[in-house]
Amino acid sequence: MISVGVITVSDRSSRGEREDASGPAIREWAEAHGYAVARETIVPDERDAITRALVDYSDAGVELILTTGGTGFAPRDVTPEATCAVIDRPAPGFAEAMRAKSLAITPHAMLSRAASGIRKRSLIINLPGSPKAVRENLGFIEAAIPHAIELLRGEVKDCGTPPSDLPLR
Ligand code: MTE
Repeated sequence: MISVGVITVSDRSSRGEREDASGPAIREWAEAHGYAVARETIVPDERDAITRALVDYSDAGVELILTTGGTGFAPRDVTPEATCAVIDRPAPGFAEAMRAKSLAITPHAMLSRAASGIRKRSLIINLPGSPKAVRENLGFIEAAIPHAIELLRGEVKDCGTPPSDLPLR
């Protein structure tokens, strides 16, 4: 079972001024796929708070770390910078796929600076902040996640043939 960590990045939600609907949307998605949500937290749009949570989850062995929020152009949007500061290896395909697929829904997809990368055995993926964008973007990348985690676990000997039950959207 894949372990999942959820980090909601939002000043207002971290202060209790706005209910977090995006973290729960990720949890719902994870549970629907049979993944175990190991950790969940809400942090403000502060680079240090975000990096601390990412490092903490990764050091604890959480396999898939999903952040939501702070990927746009607002002055305090620093989630991609915090992510890039902690990753060992970039994994740009996830962010590229999300932007490419999301453009069919809204031109504002261009405004997401989301990053994705690998720290130790963890795959970290930034998602935009709204619950709608979370659901849409997870739908675009979910087909590649099991194989990504298998590779990170070192379980794959030969990945020449993708499983036929993973349709490309
Ligand atoms: N992608 C999808 N699929 N659906 C959306 O509604 N919203 C966009 C974009 N990506 C959106 C999306 C908007 S309006 C913004 S500003 C950016 O994500 C960044 O969002 P964030 O600042 O909440 O992270």
